[in-house]
Amino acid sequence: MDDKETKTKQAMLEMLFEKTGKGFSPKVMQFGIRPGRYGVVSQPDGHARVSSDCGDTIEMFLRMKDGRVEEAKFTSEGCVTTVASAQAASEMAVGKTVRECLAINQSSIMDYLDGLPGESRHCAYLAALALHRALRDYAIHRKGHWRTQDRQKCSREES
Ligand code: FES
Repeated sequence: MDDKETKTKQAMLEMLFEKTGKGFSPKVMQFGIRPGRYGVVSQPDGHARVSSDCGDTIEMFLRMKDGRVEEAKFTSEGCVTTVASAQAASEMAVGKTVRECLAINQSSIMDYLDGLPGESRHCAYLAALALHRALRDYAIHRKGHWRTQDRQKCSREES
């Protein structure tokens, strides 16, 4: 683990510690600290990067097969609840059709996380937005070729 990773993890732990008294569910803490879907899908079929007014960002990557989400991963520069929300959205999306994924929204993500306090609810909205934008990207480009600029942008290896 390099210095940057260590500092990031330390910052997340401090933030989590600060927020544990504010009613965060065990699922939020688990997803926020150990998000199993954190990473990149190389040459994704759908991709989006969204940001919130607070400065948090989520980048969502989808691989599609037979009209369903085969793989969903994300990266984020954001707080624990943003990471937890993105983890929830990507976990909920896997195996679903585009139409089924469009039903994943702020409310269903909050339910999946066993709730979020008021000041963190927009994190779930941001995660839903990232998923929907990635689906839109897939819908727009599924008949075309993978765009060169995105291929370059997303050429990092899957983690
Ligand atoms: Fe703003 Fe999570 S705190 S998106």
